[in-house]
Amino acid sequence: MNKSFTLFILSIIVYCGSYGNTVDWGATGHRTVGEIAQQHLSKRAEKQISDILNGQSLAMVSTYGDDIKSDKKYDKYYTWHFVNFPFDTKYEASKKDKRGDIVMGIQKCIEALKDPNTSQEDKSFYLKFLVHLVGDLHQPLHVGKAEDRGGNDIKVLWHYDKSNLHRVWDSEMIESFNMSYTELAANSKKLSKEQIKIIQKGSILDWTYESQALAKKVYASAKMDEKLGYRYSYDHFETVQSQLQKSGIRLAKILNEIFG
Ligand code: ADE
Ligand code: ZN
Ligand code: ZN
Repeated sequence: MNKSFTLFILSIIVYCGSYGNTVDWGATGHRTVGEIAQQHLSKRAEKQISDILNGQSLAMVSTYGDDIKSDKKYDKYYTWHFVNFPFDTKYEASKKDKRGDIVMGIQKCIEALKDPNTSQEDKSFYLKFLVHLVGDLHQPLHVGKAEDRGGNDIKVLWHYDKSNLHRVWDSEMIESFNMSYTELAANSKKLSKEQIKIIQKGSILDWTYESQALAKKVYASAKMDEKLGYRYSYDHFETVQSQLQKSGIRLAKILNEIFG
């Protein structure tokens, strides 16, 4: 291979790596959600979940929904990770993707886990997917605009590297913060029983609208080709932390209801 051809191939790899699609919250974000949920499980739920997952923790299985994207067999679940519908409209009245979306995906997982006829193997699948999807639902841009694929097409610089607005929210801010998922979970805000109850109020749809309202603010927070960095994290990382915590606490509520 001559030198310029090698350089050409290398630059394509670098380009795809920096502008390409990413996986949701990113491993650290998803694991933080799993870890926080684990800490809010009832004893009964904890035991049944551990049996289904062969002793694995919720943090460990939280990235499953993204891991299976590497296997074509699971392509049909691609649309389960998000829902895009026009701002200030109702989900119920919006045109649905026939392949499903995150709201339908979460509901399907819950139904399958409640169904006594579901096999152990399927229970494991739907439980792992549920942990992942409740995380995704709390990344505001997973309830975004269809035309820019939830901010994936809004190219920005993250410090000096090519990125996009979706990825800044999925993973860039979290990775720059440079804490492990256990540290992020351990350092989440201390909440009273009352505050936890308030966070756990509402339905999947209520939480979807909450994310959409946040997504509106996220879209207003950055322009195409803008350079984002320290100041952006200073302004928005608290929202990331709060969404991770809410997500874990709500996931525990769902699981305690299923396995209670
Ligand atoms: N692909 C299309 N829309 C998306 C969204 N809102 N989040 C993640 N991936 C997407
Ligand atoms: Zn994402
Ligand atoms: Zn996902």
